[in-house]
Amino acid sequence: MALRSRSGTPRAELSTLSESELLVRAREHPVPRHVAIIMDGNGRWATRRGLPRVAGHREGVKAARAAVRAGTEIGLDYLTLYAFSTENWSRPEDEVSMLMSLLEEAIYRELPDLMARNVRLRVIGRPGGVPLPIRRGIDRVVEATRDNTGLTLVMAFNYGGRDELLEAVRALAVRVQAGELAPAAISEADVSAALYTRDIPDPDLLIRTSGEMRVSNFLLWQIAYTELWITPTLWPDFGARDLYRALVDFQGRTRRFGGV
Ligand code: IPE
Ligand code: IPE
Ligand code: MG
Repeated sequence: MALRSRSGTPRAELSTLSESELLVRAREHPVPRHVAIIMDGNGRWATRRGLPRVAGHREGVKAARAAVRAGTEIGLDYLTLYAFSTENWSRPEDEVSMLMSLLEEAIYRELPDLMARNVRLRVIGRPGGVPLPIRRGIDRVVEATRDNTGLTLVMAFNYGGRDELLEAVRALAVRVQAGELAPAAISEADVSAALYTRDIPDPDLLIRTSGEMRVSNFLLWQIAYTELWITPTLWPDFGARDLYRALVDFQGRTRRFGGV
């Protein structure tokens, strides 16, 4: 028997529904609080068109804007976008610097729209290592949107899951050394509270575009029981319709958390 989503639509048929039909379906059931996305495939998108990789990153920014709009439309509480990893520094210098300025420029340009949509920007990742003017530019937008109460857009920028865990281990070790915490008393809650995401619920759904079957050092602790949705669509081609489709698919799943 074909797998069915809770609304009764066979999963294969979801691919034939339009954006507005999918939005209606997604609204029939509770939406996940937190969706995280590994936005992958910008380079391939550009290469397939004979364009420089940076052209793919520019298109990727447009897809990110569309995802934020769709996220506000459907009422997510948190949308986390993986924008730049601690490993992405190993790319050619010109690609890295273009990516940095593209991201800063995009965030600043989006400020009026973020305000209009009541979106609050948060950044997770290592602040050190990011060029100062870029950090300041992003911080200004974080500051300007801090009292917004709608969607929280979490940008993972210079983010690495292992790096985040290392920082947490160091912070806990300092507390142990100071005699504040006994090693045997360290709990999962203590570890969670030492991460960048301390006040953010774990993602319910993790989306990865471009078909790669890996997590690439993203939210390693937080995705322990996150549902996965991987699509071959390259990030610049990902739109609101794809997000709603992932949500409807998610709504048809049973999460078990190790139980029966
Ligand atoms: C994702 O696209 C954007 C970033 C990692 C910053 P890629 O640049 O990784 O594109 P591919 O994977 O090479 O196609
Ligand atoms: C993951 O994509 C990082 C971001 C989307 C920022 P990558 O393209 O860097 O991941 P790998 O190299 O394919 O694992
Ligand atoms: Mg990639």
